[in-house]
This record gives sequence, C-alpha cells and structure tokens, in this order.
Amino acid sequence: MIYKLSDFHFPDTAARLYPQNSQGQWQLEIGFGDGRFWAAHSVFEGALEGGSAFPANYLGVEISGSSLLKAQQKSKGKDQTANARVILTKMPADLLLRAVIPPASLSRIYVNFPDPWPKAGHSENRLLRRSFFELAADRLRLGGEIWFTTDHAEYFEFALEQARQTPFYQITQPEPPKAALQTKYAKKWESYGLEANHARFTVIAQPTAPQPWLEVFNYEDAMPHAIIDLKIHITDFEKTAFEKTVTRFGDTTIILLEVMQSVNRPMLHFLAHIEEAELTQEILIGVTLRDEGGALVRLEKFGSPIITAGVKKAVGAVTDYLEGRGAKVLMRAY
Ligand SMILES: C[S@@+](CC[C@H](N)C(=O)[O-])C[C@H]1O[C@@H](n2cnc3c(N)ncnc32)[C@H](O)[C@@H]1O
Repeated sequence: MIYKLSDFHFPDTAARLYPQNSQGQWQLEIGFGDGRFWAAHSVFEGALEGGSAFPANYLGVEISGSSLLKAQQKSKGKDQTANARVILTKMPADLLLRAVIPPASLSRIYVNFPDPWPKAGHSENRLLRRSFFELAADRLRLGGEIWFTTDHAEYFEFALEQARQTPFYQITQPEPPKAALQTKYAKKWESYGLEANHARFTVIAQPTAPQPWLEVFNYEDAMPHAIIDLKIHITDFEKTAFEKTVTRFGDTTIILLEVMQSVNRPMLHFLAHIEEAELTQEILIGVTLRDEGGALVRLEKFGSPIITAGVKKAVGAVTDYLEGRGAKVLMRAY
C-alpha cells in the first residue's frame, strides 16, 4: 500500500497503520530502491522474526518516485495479509522519522547501500550521521537495531564513528543478512568485486531530551485563515502588481511565488513555496468573498497540504501582503 505524507497521523501508531497485525514488530527500511530487500528478507528470515509470535510490519521510505512504483510492483502478488503489513511512502527518511514515527516504536531500521556521497565536503549529505543516530535512538525501542550494509568502506567507518559519538548504541559486526546481498546495488557492487560491510547498532540507551518534532496540526482544529476588507473589488486586484516575496524565520522559508485570478468566480489563489527543516511544500492560499462582507484568506485543501507552523505563517504572509496593498485585517486565526 502506498501512503502519502497526508495519509499519516502525526505521530502515527503501528496499531492504526497495521490493524490486522498490531502486535507485530514495526520495521523501517530507508531507501528501499526497487524493493528487493524486503521481498528476499521475508523469504530468508521467515515470516516470524526476533522470537516474536507475530510477523513484522514493514514501512519503506524512498525519495525516488520511480523506485516507489517498482517496489509496489514487487509487493504485488503477495497474499492479502502480507500486503496489509507493507506500507511504502515517498519522502525524505528524516521527515518520516521526525514527524510520523513516535518515540520508542520501531524494532528495526534497515539501510542497505545508501548513497555514499564520496566527494570531500559532501559527507554532511550522508544519511548515517550523528544527528540521524540521535533521532533513530529516540524512535527505536530499547534493544531495537539499525542494520547497515554498504560496499563503501569509507562511509562504513564514518557511520561507525558518528554512532560512537553518541552514548546510545552498542555496535556489532556480524555477517550481512542474506537479503541485503540480493539488492540491486549489492549485485552491482559485487560485479565490480566490492565486498559488503555490515554493522548492527543496538539501542542501549535512549535520549532523555526530546528530539525535535515537526508539529503538524489537524485540518479541523487549525484551518489557518484571516478575514480582511480588501478595500478594492477582488477582480480589480491586478496580477501585474504582484511581487514575489520571501519571508524567513528560524529554519523556515516562505516564498509567495504567484497570484492568480480564478476565471470561474471572484477569487484569488496565491501559490506559496515553504521549506521547513526536511519538509518542502507548495500550497495554495485562496482569497474569497464572504456573504457577510469582507474576504476570507484561507489555506486551500488542494494537494492535501500538511498544516505546519510554516503553512500557518504562509497564510499570515498572504494576509500581510494584502495589508501592504491597502487591505484592512479584521481577524487573524493562524
Ligand atoms: C544506492 S541506492 C540503494 C537502493 C537499495 N537499497 C539497494 O540496495 O538496491 C540508495 C537509495 O536511497 C534513496 N535515498 C537517498 N536519500 C534518501 C532519503 N533521505 N530518504 C529516503 N531514501 C533516500 C535513493 O533514492 C536510492 O533509491
């Protein structure tokens, strides 16, 4: 099953995501590529893992859309119960861990042949850095593990060193799991004569300070909006008068890119781009006339945006923009 970011709860639970098997372990694979690992792992390890009486529930995260579709094809043909335990999603792994996965909930995280970022100065792009290990120690259960396999010897040593900078892990280096040697990249590197390095990072202590959390609000509780008096008729709002605006606060950037007039009814749509930590969203903010008078500035549901502090501020940025062009703000709720 494929989940969009907006299909998740923030945070979510295994009980909600896998209702048929809520007692099974919750395992995450980061960068699953074409999905070969989990298909092979279930065969090699058997359905029941880690002494658990229940099969594991699988969550796979990828940033590549084409990989998502390939992996979905691979999971087809499985029986219905096995499929109910497989969820694939497309987003950066850090975002999923931070916004969706609650503390102490995962049993295992698999990372097979992650992008090595081999050039000097690019190591900050690597997934397995100290900040990742800190976040993962919080989201894994005590005793939970990261299984890391790579052909890249330098990245391997780098990851061990980064994990050792935290007090959260015991590191062992057993043989790699058989399934990790069957992935597309395992086969590619094997054909070049490279060997796979494997390490397991077992959580022996968890962070006491809470890990930064991306706060997400429900539509019902928090549809951000404002009521304004535009002072001019909405159809007189000239598109040519629009200037792109950039607002920054903390690690959030909001860019108002464009404003469009609706051809169907008196309405404006502002297109905004928002970057907040690992999350990037393009949203529409509508300005419509109210029967009671004045105009409503409101986030539109188009594209299923996730309501974050940045999205609320974007509604504020549109309101401020209109205020700067003569509108009077009557009420702000964001
Ligand atoms: C070298 S490929 C390995 C794929 C697969 N694990 C294998 O062994 O064949 C690395 C994969 O990680 C994905 N990836 C890179 N950064 C990611 C991130 N931040 N979150 C999720 N996936 C990511 C890439 O799209 C790519 O498919």
